[in-house]
Amino acid sequence: MRITVIGTGYLGVTHAACMAELGFEVMGLDVDVEKVAALASGRVPFYEPGLQEVLRAQIAAGRLSFTSDHAELAAWAGEGAVHFVCVGTPQKKGEYAADMTYVDAAFEAVARAVAHQGRTLLVGKSTVPVGTAARLAERIAELAPDAELAWNPEFLREGHAVEDTLHPDRLVIGVRSPEAEAALRQVYGRLLEEDVPLVVTDFPTAELVKVSANSFLAVKISFINAMAEVCEAAGADVMQLSEALSHDPRIGGRYLVPGLGFGGGCLPKDIRAFMARAGELGVDQALAFLKEVDAINMRRRARTVDLAREQCDGSLLGKRVAVWGAAFKPESDDIRDSPALNVAASINLQGAQVTVYDPKAMDNARKMFPTLSYAGSAMEAAEQADVILHLTEWQEFRDLDPAAVGVQVRNTRIIDSRNALDAAAWRAAGWTYRALGRP
Ligand code: UDX
Repeated sequence: MRITVIGTGYLGVTHAACMAELGFEVMGLDVDVEKVAALASGRVPFYEPGLQEVLRAQIAAGRLSFTSDHAELAAWAGEGAVHFVCVGTPQKKGEYAADMTYVDAAFEAVARAVAHQGRTLLVGKSTVPVGTAARLAERIAELAPDAELAWNPEFLREGHAVEDTLHPDRLVIGVRSPEAEAALRQVYGRLLEEDVPLVVTDFPTAELVKVSANSFLAVKISFINAMAEVCEAAGADVMQLSEALSHDPRIGGRYLVPGLGFGGGCLPKDIRAFMARAGELGVDQALAFLKEVDAINMRRRARTVDLAREQCDGSLLGKRVAVWGAAFKPESDDIRDSPALNVAASINLQGAQVTVYDPKAMDNARKMFPTLSYAGSAMEAAEQADVILHLTEWQEFRDLDPAAVGVQVRNTRIIDSRNALDAAAWRAAGWTYRALGRP
């Protein structure tokens, strides 16, 4: 059985490299020829810990290759192959709904290419509105009657992509035949031997598992951030509150870290697309709470801007603001819907000169936010700053010596929007330390 992976973004490259790591011969395809050339030479075009090593080892072992040519991919894969589609479903401009252009085009192209290759399985991994698989199955039946469709959502986190793919919490497959189930059991055989739970279900349930999982995570984060708002008003400490809640095993401590809230290429757009789809299905009331989850999340960004203005004596005009962090979370260079850059841009719009430093996301940030200034280190960003904003919790920032940073700045004022620095150490070094949800 040969495996192909169509779409080589975060998900696709990781899936292709990990399937090769599991022992399969794998070919990845992307319509972006430059990306294909980079990957074929062993270079991952984004930062993901451990991925480049797996990619290089698998290319060297002869198990992993890349192409932009659908016909080549289909002929190489042949009969009995499993083709995974891993292209993106970004939010449509000015709308909540997901843009399905890439998914539709990817399935259309692969179905046409495999039409004369005998029996094959096409597997959707992209996060899609419920009902997509059933719709695609009809189109595939027209284009490639011997090809079958399955749906297999992916739950990997950026920054842990390889580990999450090789050691997932669970596998979910939506199938319409025992043959499709058998093929996917063969693909994931090694993981199933390690007792990874497998849920075999229908198309709509498989599609819904993904968006409901992301919605639940968003709810948890916004719940604790709502508590942070109340703590701010009541003079309570949300970090201690969160710790106390986390000891109840029914609640659990993960995804209960209060701070600047969620961003990235998944959670924000997935909950919005889910609301849009619920509206189409006539059950928008069932997901009305997600609107509030989104609003709570966005208010943390606004609150950080307000705190920065407060620390700059009421006006940001002409002030120097150091921003530590640009990626939407640490161990990633992804700046899609990054809370850090969103805050940095708002402060810049209010007239401050903003200097950003991030260990990995500088190139991406520079391209998207050219009016911000950029520094080569956290220390350099802090030079003559009126206030420092800690917006993405890289370990590098936790390791800084508050006394040494103090020499750089104009005012020793820091806002820790991620609740990740050692408050006592910063205060002991003479800093005005402010955080979200804490006195
Ligand atoms: C998420 C899901 O975790 C993953 O299962 C899904 O496949 C894709 O979306 P990812 O976007 O990579 O993964 O990041 P994740 O680690 O979940 O963090 C999302 C955002 O929430 C980040 O901005 C992070 O800073 C924030 N977050 C997370 C919090 O603010 N508090 C928390 O306690 C946890």
